[in-house]
Amino acid sequence: MDAVQAAEALLVFVAFALAAPVTAGADPGAERERELVALVRQDCGSCHGMTLKGGLGPALTPEALRDKPADSLTLTILNGRPGTAMPPWRPFVSEAEAAWIVEQLQRGLRDGAH
Ligand code: HEC
Repeated sequence: MDAVQAAEALLVFVAFALAAPVTAGADPGAERERELVALVRQDCGSCHGMTLKGGLGPALTPEALRDKPADSLTLTILNGRPGTAMPPWRPFVSEAEAAWIVEQLQRGLRDGAH
């Protein structure tokens, strides 16, 4: 392989690396996804309403969350909102999982498997 070919190969590699999806919304795997959906329905639902239309906490429906930045919603789940009833979930979900939950909430939570 000469130098030009090597440079071309490197460019192709970099292009693929850049095209790969970043961690946000990474797929946690079917089993963990079911656990996370159950967590949202039960634990989050106890404050945000069993249908997530609001209760002690605000609605977490796609309509309610549509215009809110996913990054800050993810941080709200991980860190909670100090001074409010919203607790931090960092001990229970990873950053990628919190981002996945936000993605699901913004598009409408599905039940169970795909
Ligand atoms: C003990 C009650 C409680 C539980 C349990 C709870 N929340 Fe909350 N949550 C709140 C309250 C209250 C707020 C509003 C905080 C504020 O005033 O800013 C909130 C805010 C939020 C927000 C920001 C909404 C917005 O419109 O900015 C998100 C997202 C959220 N919660 C997600 C979750 C998720 C996901 C779970 C479960 C993993 C959860 N919450 C569990 C009480 C709760």
